[in-house]
Amino acid sequence: MSFRDYICVKAKLMKTAILYASTHGTSEKAAQLLSDKIGNCDLINLRKIKKVDLNDYSKLIIGGSIHMGKMQQRVRSFIEKYQAEIIDKKFALFMCCMDEKQEENQLKSAFPADLQAKAVMVTGIGGEFLFDKMNFLERAMVKKISGSNESVHRLYMDKIEALADAMKQ
Ligand SMILES: Cc1cc2nc3c(=O)[nH]c(=O)nc-3n(C[C@H](O)[C@H](O)[C@H](O)COP(=O)(O)O)c2cc1C
Repeated sequence: MSFRDYICVKAKLMKTAILYASTHGTSEKAAQLLSDKIGNCDLINLRKIKKVDLNDYSKLIIGGSIHMGKMQQRVRSFIEKYQAEIIDKKFALFMCCMDEKQEENQLKSAFPADLQAKAVMVTGIGGEFLFDKMNFLERAMVKKISGSNESVHRLYMDKIEALADAMKQ
C-alpha cells in the first residue's frame, strides 16, 4: 500500500458521523457547529436518510431535539435499529431542549440507559424557539409555555465545545 493510500484509508477509518433529526433546524445547526469544530465529519440527517453504513465511521455523534417531552422519533428508531453497532464505537449523545427544569429528566429518557452508560458524553446543549419556522399550532403551544412570541436563541456553545473536544481525542 502506498503512503497516499495509507493516509486515505486512515482518514476514512477516523471519520466521524454526526447523525441528527431536527424540526426547525436547531439540532442541524448544532450538528454543523460540531462538524466545523471536529473536522472530517459527515452530517447525516435522519429525517432524509433511512439507511446508513456505520462501517464507514469510527466515531458517532447522535442527537436531536425534544418535542412534547420526547426525543425525535427518527433518532429513537435509528438507535433502536443500530444500538449494537453504536455501542462498539466511540460515540456521544446530545439533546436540544428549552425546558430547563425538565432538562435532566428529559435527558434521562431521551436515550436508552445502557447506551448512555457507554457514551463518551451525554449532554443537553440548550435550544431555540424559532417562531418564524413554527406552524400555527406550534406557535400557540410555545407561546402558552414560554409566555412570549419572541424567538429565543439559547444554544450552549460551551457544551458544544466540550462535546467536540471529547470526540476529537
Ligand atoms: C411544538 C414544540 C414542542 C416542544 N416541546 C418541548 C418539550 O416538551 N420540552 C423541551 O424542553 N423543549 C421543547 N421544545 C423546544 C425544542 O426542544 C427546541 O425548540 C429545540 O431547539 C428544537 O430543535 P429542532 O429545531 O432541532 O427540532 C418544543 C418546541 C416546540 C416548537
